[in-house]
Amino acid sequence: MKNFVETSIESIRSQVGDGRVICGLSGGVDSAVVAALVSRAIGSRLTCIFVDTGLMRKNEIDSVAKVFRENFDANLVVVDAEERFLSLLKDVDDPQEKRKIIGKTFIDVFTEEAHKVDGAKFLAQGTIWPDVVESGGEEGAPAKTVKYHHNVGGLPEDMEFELVEPLRKLYKNEVRQVGLELGLPEELVWRHPFPGPGLAVRCLGPVSKPDLDCLREADAIVVEEITKAGLYRETSQVFAVLLPVRSVGAKNGERTYEKAVVVRCIATQDFMEANWYPVPYEVLAKISSRILSEVDGVNRVAYDISSKPPATIEWE
Ligand code: XMP
Repeated sequence: MKNFVETSIESIRSQVGDGRVICGLSGGVDSAVVAALVSRAIGSRLTCIFVDTGLMRKNEIDSVAKVFRENFDANLVVVDAEERFLSLLKDVDDPQEKRKIIGKTFIDVFTEEAHKVDGAKFLAQGTIWPDVVESGGEEGAPAKTVKYHHNVGGLPEDMEFELVEPLRKLYKNEVRQVGLELGLPEELVWRHPFPGPGLAVRCLGPVSKPDLDCLREADAIVVEEITKAGLYRETSQVFAVLLPVRSVGAKNGERTYEKAVVVRCIATQDFMEANWYPVPYEVLAKISSRILSEVDGVNRVAYDISSKPPATIEWE
């Protein structure tokens, strides 16, 4: 019996014929697995688009580009849209308003780039079974033009692309399995989910480049120390949040008045309910001392011990 990878490759080939396909990469496992499958099926007739919103984690773009170079025989377009996103987000305080701006701007940027790909008729995306269920889609429904599912907020219905959705019937753990079969790196396959609006919902209040840079550094330390302690696979999401409050501290005998970082580590099965994760004190101590000594503008670190509900996983 043929396995999922072989069957998918055949069905992608028969759906797209000699057409060109575009695929948005997010840095997450679903879009990477789709891109890997489609690139196996049609090679360089696939163009992947990665939008750099300026709200990504540290080294995100380089690591996506590296995985891409090593695993795909396809074209990659990285769109630097940081300035566009940050100028539209300037002084915007309300979390939902921030999400709306990011969602709309993402659509605008992605659509502009997609239309630059000559002759592209198909859009491959990483819709998985829980997405189909959540959006009320029916099993076995033929791919239509177009009910877009995207983790930022949905792509517009008037984009004239036919959807290619090879993961539509799979659960997340099955997607990971396919990723491993396709030879994608373990760090990518087991990556924790990252929200579409990115660091904007972890940098509370209006976002700015200096604050995002500060958050990126703190966040990278959290992920690095949790990974070093062997806790990455035990946890479901681990990250830093930058608070818009300042508190008094002391450094080298001088008074400081700087921002606070919250460390959030949770474990969950379904992300509907989640428990705060009891990270050992010595790991927390390492995270705290590294953030306080390595990240400029932060003089206080707190650990979030709130489960969901009543808290949510993200702070915004
Ligand atoms: P909450 O904060 O609602 O998060 O407990 C549940 C899960 O959803 C992710 N999340 C988002 N993902 N766009 C996304 O693509 C969003 O606007 C968004 N908000 C929250 C969050 O990271 C967690 O995995």
